Amino acid sequence: MFNSYFCSLLLNQLSSLKRIKIQDKVFESYLSEKDIQDAILKVAKEINKKYRGKKPVFLGVLNGSFLFAADLMKAIDFDCEISFVKVASYVGTQSSGQVRQLLGLDQNLQGRHVVVVEDIVDTGNTVEAIYGLIKNMGPSSISFATLLFKPKVYSKDIKIDYVALEIEPDFVVGYGLDYDGYGRNLNSLYVLSEKQSIKTNEDMMNIVLFGPPGAGKGTQAMKLKDKYHLVHISTGDILRKEIKDGSDLGLQAKGFMDKGELVPDEVVIEMIENCLNENGDVNGFIFDGFPRTTEQALALDNLLQKHNTEIDSMLSLEVDDEELVDRIIKRGRDSGREDDKNESVIFNRIITYNKKTAPLKEYYNKQGKYNSIKGIGTVEEVLDRLTKVIGAN
Ligand code: AP5
Ligand code: MG
Repeated sequence: MFNSYFCSLLLNQLSSLKRIKIQDKVFESYLSEKDIQDAILKVAKEINKKYRGKKPVFLGVLNGSFLFAADLMKAIDFDCEISFVKVASYVGTQSSGQVRQLLGLDQNLQGRHVVVVEDIVDTGNTVEAIYGLIKNMGPSSISFATLLFKPKVYSKDIKIDYVALEIEPDFVVGYGLDYDGYGRNLNSLYVLSEKQSIKTNEDMMNIVLFGPPGAGKGTQAMKLKDKYHLVHISTGDILRKEIKDGSDLGLQAKGFMDKGELVPDEVVIEMIENCLNENGDVNGFIFDGFPRTTEQALALDNLLQKHNTEIDSMLSLEVDDEELVDRIIKRGRDSGREDDKNESVIFNRIITYNKKTAPLKEYYNKQGKYNSIKGIGTVEEVLDRLTKVIGAN
């Protein structure tokens, strides 16, 4: 999926796979909020049909069922009671096989229809324990409703009457279900990823390669990428690829780029978010041409924080305007880049940089990450200066 040079993504692919980190584990998106809500309504419909007029008692099994129980109860349209009991049966990602005692069961269930509401049923140990305890209290009937059911590992004879979603025997988190206490508040479900390594901050090296148009960001990024085994993300390159592919995003961006103006923040931020989500297992990133506004810089900090990492240093290539224009005009002769062909567009790119992008030097300076590097000289000389600064950080 990944191409180390282009991180080519269309806006209509933005809902694609999301990876999140909870504690020390990486999870991938699995079932959306809509999938879950649709499945709950289906189950509620069945229960409404079966129990109308019977005044059942719903018993939510804490902690995992609290969201499912809440959404299910909102869709129940007859008189009923709801109580909660507590059972702990999981430690870490493996089912421990030990079912502890039921806590908080003070309801009189004698002669009542009981519907136990579970977040997940896998081996069935919990179900079996709850069934045994409730049965001793003389109810009229006991049935089970669960958000998730793992039929491949279920090993008991007790019928699971209402199943919202059947899933494979994977470890899932979100929508009430946790990993070591975290993740219950997520409004959709995530599954434990087979690819576990999102590198932590200490392992990664993230660099912002900064500078005006023609400063040599792209040239140096290609060298640094190979030297430090980093992923090169150039928003300019991604946008040009979108234009070439004729995508909606490309069409949208072209008008701005051809004039030497910035593409709207939300478009580029979303592109970067997807690049980060799709590249969990990397040594780090070189951001070339991003961020270009304060809003983009703030978004990048937030996104990296979500991935447990941060920018290590911002390397700003300094080249005077005359040399910039000279370089870009030379390249424009054979680059095919629309924004290299016209002098007034080149000037506008430089003006836009000075007005909207150069102020970011102060943003990174405040974080102690700003480094000014002379961008004049041979490519190797500039590279040498960059690597010295990287090495010193
Ligand atoms: P982008 O593609 O990022 O272009 P740019 O910033 O204008 O920079 P360039 O790619 O032209 O220069 P560079 O610094 O990479 O230098 P290079 O190595 O190529 O952005 C284009 C447009 O996309 C923007 O105007 C905007 O519309 C949009 N966009 C992109 N990102 C965005 C964002 N985050 N937000 C909003 N909009 C965004 O070198 C230039 C030339 O000089 C080359 O020919 C090279 O061979 C030569 N050269 C390099 N080093 C040397 C040297 N040491 N000596 C002599 N020549 C050299
Ligand atoms: Mg470039």
